[in-house]
Amino acid sequence: MKILALISMLAGGALTLISSFSLAEEANVKRSDSDPTIRSWGKEYPEYIEMYMQMKDTTKPTEYGGNVPYSKLIRFPQLTELWAGYAFALDFNEERGHYYSQIDQYETKRNDKEFLNSHGLKKFNGQPGACMNCHSGWVPELVREMGWEKFNKTPYWDTVAKLKKEHGEGIHGAEMGSTCADCHTPDDMSLRVTRPAYINAMVQRGYEADNKLGLKATQKEMRNHVCQQCHVEYYFKGPNKVLTFPWANWPKDRPLNIEMIEQYYDNERAKEGGFQGDWIHQTTKASMLKMQHPEAEMTSSGRHTKDGVSCVDCHMPLIEKDGEQVTDHNLDSPLNDIIACKSCHENESEIRKMVQDTQRFTAKEMAKAENAILALIDDIEKVRHEMADLDKFSSIKDKQKRQDAISEGIQPALEMHRRASMRWDFVGAENSTGIHSPREAWRILGDAEKLAREGQQLLKESASNFGIQIRLTNKGAIPTAPEVINPGNIVGSMPPMTTIQADDQCLLP
Ligand code: HEC
Ligand code: HEC
Ligand code: HEC
Ligand code: HEC
Ligand code: HEC
Repeated sequence: MKILALISMLAGGALTLISSFSLAEEANVKRSDSDPTIRSWGKEYPEYIEMYMQMKDTTKPTEYGGNVPYSKLIRFPQLTELWAGYAFALDFNEERGHYYSQIDQYETKRNDKEFLNSHGLKKFNGQPGACMNCHSGWVPELVREMGWEKFNKTPYWDTVAKLKKEHGEGIHGAEMGSTCADCHTPDDMSLRVTRPAYINAMVQRGYEADNKLGLKATQKEMRNHVCQQCHVEYYFKGPNKVLTFPWANWPKDRPLNIEMIEQYYDNERAKEGGFQGDWIHQTTKASMLKMQHPEAEMTSSGRHTKDGVSCVDCHMPLIEKDGEQVTDHNLDSPLNDIIACKSCHENESEIRKMVQDTQRFTAKEMAKAENAILALIDDIEKVRHEMADLDKFSSIKDKQKRQDAISEGIQPALEMHRRASMRWDFVGAENSTGIHSPREAWRILGDAEKLAREGQQLLKESASNFGIQIRLTNKGAIPTAPEVINPGNIVGSMPPMTTIQADDQCLLP
């Protein structure tokens, strides 16, 4: 490996940083968290605003990533069954650049009470302000004004109204994604972390908090920390909906494995009044866990992390701009321009082939796990149906109590549904399709498939206790794809050609 290249990359970043400090000092500008807008923070850095604005682009798909926010539900209709009964089964799209963080949160149907209530989720009562944690640069200021718990539990749209009242309509979307203030200090623009949930979780793991930088860390370590504030699995804890990361079982300075997250949620579930799960699966009635963008967790076990390569090394490489070396602030798929990889992997076509093979293999393993989980879902549905006809259950008049009694009769299979699904989802929600840690991704998917198949066997045993014999399904049914929700809008649009070609290569027999 070319360690020298990496060192000079890092040193280059530090050098430019120093020259920018003096520039800021000369202009004697005041940056502060009470106005985190790109406009204010970027005044003497027009070239950084320019790079940031490149994230408005939505024209570059890759086989599994890219910035075209097409509908993942149309590309992978199986998701509507795998997440049945949860808002994700109604609207879920490929993500795009930081420019859109607040816009997309505003516009997603998962944040639209009326839509969800009229599409089968009658009990959905609106998202909490906690959603904003990773989607707006105003968070540190809001937390200061409202207090941490109140910020989290206040309904999302109330907090939006407060922002609009105090700071004007311009608060909507544009410039309100991830801002300079998320990653930089106001005084000298060095790297810092700003998000309470991340600092809390890291302190719990044994890291040390820091007044100025959020966490005590070297500049090199900060090149992971700044991203890991948001690109992580999370849940909202307790009645105050406090944003929490399930990391208590993840030891300091060690790679994470998914069993640590599962253990965490199991421990919470066993506590009186503890977090039980994200939702109840509509078809099987299992209590489920939904995973979300665990990039920090997955990357921790990757080969590159072992070699000291950070998120920033791959997603914000040094580029040349107006004759100067600068850190690229257009955060996108590294596959759009693999300059970041070239310092270590010289041959471009070779590295592209390696990425393609890794991602396509991961996609195949995903599909195998999905087949197994869908088969388990179909079998549970059949068994529930037959059980409902038995006197033992049909005599229970209250519908909910009848369902609960049936669930109790097949509990081991429902447990396997939860365990298989959170594993498959972990790899799917992690946005690199295996690249961040290929071997770990494949191990987890293998386990997901195995647990789902075990679930089917356990179901068969439980069913036979009630005199019900079933033939196990091999391949679960895939539902038909949903319609485009907003015709004419790029968000939720039909999947681009690049993705269709990739999927044709990955069809299972
Ligand atoms: C070795 C280089 C490397 C490192 C280190 C790395 N990534 Fe990635 N990342 C990639 C590649 C390659 C992809 C796949 C892009 C694609 O499929 O278009 C990717 C995909 C992503 C995506 C989805 C991008 C898209 O276009 O959909 C996100 C988000 C992401 N990475 C965040 C992170 C975070 C956060 C970290 C650190 C915790 C990190 N990455 C570390 C190389 C890297
Ligand atoms: C811990 C940080 C964090 C929290 C909290 C969070 N998000 Fe996100 N969100 C992200 C990241 C990172 C991405 C980009 C990666 C991805 O889409 O997987 C994202 C992407 C999205 C997207 C675009 C892609 C899609 O899923 O359609 C939407 C919409 C969204 N989030 C809505 C929400 C809502 C609603 C909530 C509250 C329930 C929420 N987010 C809470 C970090 C967060
Ligand atoms: C998601 C995190 C993030 C955001 C948002 C961000 N930066 Fe940076 N910025 C970095 C990282 C990482 C570096 C590299 C620092 C290092 O390792 O030396 C950097 C470096 C810089 C530097 C030093 C020179 C260089 O190119 O390395 C300047 C100046 C800078 N950023 C300005 C800005 C401005 C202005 C904004 C808002 C328009 C902004 N940044 C937004 C993460 C971020
Ligand atoms: C304040 C929270 C936050 C921080 C800090 C943050 N991200 Fe993100 N990131 C998001 C959200 C939210 C999205 C999804 C935006 C959308 O789809 O609207 C996203 C999207 C992305 C994407 C997808 C871009 C595309 O074209 O599809 C990449 C890549 C990415 N982030 C990498 C990083 C890296 C690397 C860092 C650290 C240098 C970082 N992010 C820091 C919240 C954050
Ligand atoms: C600082 C050096 C460095 C950088 C930068 C780097 N890599 Fe690597 N990469 C390595 C090393 C070392 C290995 C392991 C040895 C090998 O297989 O060649 C590796 C292995 C890989 C593998 C094999 C699978 C695995 O993870 O073990 C893939 C795929 C890969 N790199 C992709 C990328 C991509 C894509 C980028 C750019 C976004 C990138 N790398 C940037 C050093 C680097």
